[in-house]
Amino acid sequence: MIPPPKRASESQTEMVQVVLPNDANPLGYILGGTVMHLIDIAGAIASHRHTRTLLVTAAVDDLQFLHSIKVGDLIILKARVTCVFTTSLEVQVDVFSEETLTGRRRLTSRAYLTFVAIDKSGARVPVAPLIVETDEERRICEEAHARRAQRLRKKLENPSVGSP
Ligand SMILES: CC(C)(COP(=O)(O)OP(=O)(O)OC[C@H]1O[C@@H](n2cnc3c(N)ncnc32)[C@H](O)[C@@H]1OP(=O)(O)O)[C@@H](O)C(=O)NCCC(=O)NCCS
Repeated sequence: MIPPPKRASESQTEMVQVVLPNDANPLGYILGGTVMHLIDIAGAIASHRHTRTLLVTAAVDDLQFLHSIKVGDLIILKARVTCVFTTSLEVQVDVFSEETLTGRRRLTSRAYLTFVAIDKSGARVPVAPLIVETDEERRICEEAHARRAQRLRKKLENPSVGSP
């Protein structure tokens, strides 16, 4: 059964935390792996809020770190469902740094993640459709369709697909 449709605003998620020394490399900048972990969490929360099902991460697109985030800064993650397919959905996660003393905010990464909805036995389940109302939302979803096609092409090109 297909669940009732939802708006992206219903699952939009913002996470904020201060970068502590334990998150950082010897230069005092947050570790890339820590940022990736937080991206996965923020993306998963937005996806769970949309689907209310169990999920697995199927793909994380190429990720760039445009600026470093130093100890004492805030790291802010904003996650939003961009498009829903059948049993999968795409989420965009934007990562910002914010200097605590000045409030200066910079976009440091943008990630696109794909999650697949599953039930307790691991079977894929349909995801609630996304209500797309504005031209902007339509454009975002069209772009997500193009990224999905590219991801699935890449998956087929992967030599490990199909091997034991
Ligand atoms: C992700 C996974 C469920 C896909 O399984 P699969 O049998 O290859 O995929 P299916 O053919 O059943 O497709 C299921 C959906 O996933 C999508 N999908 C599968 N692989 C994908 C990929 N690499 N990128 C984007 N979407 C993908 C399909 O398009 C389909 O979406 P749709 O129903 O909306 O059209 C499976 O590979 C898996 O369990 N991987 C491990 C996940 C994991 O451990 N993640 C980390 C911890 S959560």
